[in-house]
Amino acid sequence: MNKLTLHAQAERGTINRHIYGHFAEHLGRCIYEGIWVGEDSPIPNVRGIRTDTVEALRKLNIPNLRWPGGCFADVYHWRDGIGPRDRRVKSVNFWGEASEPNHFGTHEFMDLCQQLDCDPYIGGNVGSGTVQEMRDWVEYLTSDYDSTLSNERRQNGQDKAWPVPFWGIGNENWGCGGHMTPEQYADLYCQYHTHVKNYGQTPMLKIASGLGGSDTEGEDIALFMKHIYGRRHPVTTDGISIHYYVYLQHQLEHSATDFGEAEWITVLQSAYQIGHVIECNAAVMDSYDPDKRMWLIVDEWGTWYPVEAGTNPAFLYQQNSMRDAVVAALTLHLFQDHCDRVQMANIAQTVNVLQAMILTDGGRFLLTPTYHVFEMFKRHQDATALLLDIDCEAYSFREQSLPVISASASKSTSGEVLLTLCNLHPTRSASIDCDCRDIALSKASGRLLAGDTFTAHNTFEDPERVHPVPFEQVSLSDDGHLRLELPAAAVLALTLN
Ligand code: AHR
Repeated sequence: MNKLTLHAQAERGTINRHIYGHFAEHLGRCIYEGIWVGEDSPIPNVRGIRTDTVEALRKLNIPNLRWPGGCFADVYHWRDGIGPRDRRVKSVNFWGEASEPNHFGTHEFMDLCQQLDCDPYIGGNVGSGTVQEMRDWVEYLTSDYDSTLSNERRQNGQDKAWPVPFWGIGNENWGCGGHMTPEQYADLYCQYHTHVKNYGQTPMLKIASGLGGSDTEGEDIALFMKHIYGRRHPVTTDGISIHYYVYLQHQLEHSATDFGEAEWITVLQSAYQIGHVIECNAAVMDSYDPDKRMWLIVDEWGTWYPVEAGTNPAFLYQQNSMRDAVVAALTLHLFQDHCDRVQMANIAQTVNVLQAMILTDGGRFLLTPTYHVFEMFKRHQDATALLLDIDCEAYSFREQSLPVISASASKSTSGEVLLTLCNLHPTRSASIDCDCRDIALSKASGRLLAGDTFTAHNTFEDPERVHPVPFEQVSLSDDGHLRLELPAAAVLALTLN
């Protein structure tokens, strides 16, 4: 029996809706085909943006979308993507083996954000751009002044300035963004921080592309912080981003859909480590920012497997199974556990790349198990995290071991409690007893995501094999306990009234 205790009076802070953010890069078939098909396409679209993708993403209430990269951001020159489309330059995409028509540029991205009703998060080019180039881009987007750049935007069809609350100062500047040292990036960051101005009314977060991540314990962020705070006129930052991928050793031996229990637990174990990475980076931030005003942003996360057989290796196209759904659920739970510091996150990536929400094949379209987790969890957005004690069994396989249950609870402004749970055991169901005495529980209704096996996934031939179904097998006892049997390798969202 696994025992949970929900402390409804012990509020742990707001779960910032921005941890449910997404990321769309000019990489493989994410933007071109997955999002942009062009106005003349037979695939239904609104001003070139495919309708099925927008309709599906709208159901997730996606709070923000990060664009144009990734590594692509540090080679992107925004002027290539404005003005009449037939006159835009054609370049070679950073990821190779594809030309970049620049048909999807600033105006198309802002149109997408409006169609999705989400905030834009734009990554500036630090690696191969200039401070002036980024400064101009911000002015082009956000200024309502009578300036040459604002007028150029008006001529290109957008009269009013756009609010753009999130700006990334480069991307992975220790890697594809320029192989810089923390100190070198800190110097550049201060320059961008000083000269990239906000022209609009919407507050603008300038986000440092953090130097830590899955391969460090926060040492690089410590050097970066020391270098920006330690100067004669200290500079601060609004947010620091880290990236965390479940990218395994002996990568080529792995597969997104053809795996056994050893690979199942190895992936979950690696996903679980994100909690440790967050704690290490947050500890460094705490020493400079004890009031926790600075956002820790995980603006790329997810699974990274070898590409699907027969697809372009540079396109990072992979399938998505119940294992990815469990990775998504436990990662989101860990973000919620650290809601005092983790204020934003972006799963990589939205369509057709890495741990995607949506896969397309020309006009064909499917929702992945990961999509369903985001949909089932959406009412956690901006809700109040509640203390939840979990006293559960271990799930072990060979020398690896993890808690079998991952769970999180939150209370919405209307007082409704959302309890989400997942069972990490791939083949055994888990008995759960949740003490809910605190909330005078009268009704619990749920939706379950489970496959017929732990490798279950959706294909274009069978796109509905994994989808949420109503879950009624919950009993409520007079003493305020909720009892249920959670199937193996499953994710459950329960609404408690
Ligand atoms: O998401 C794919 C790539 O992974 C991004 O472009 C880069 O930032 C990271 O290394």
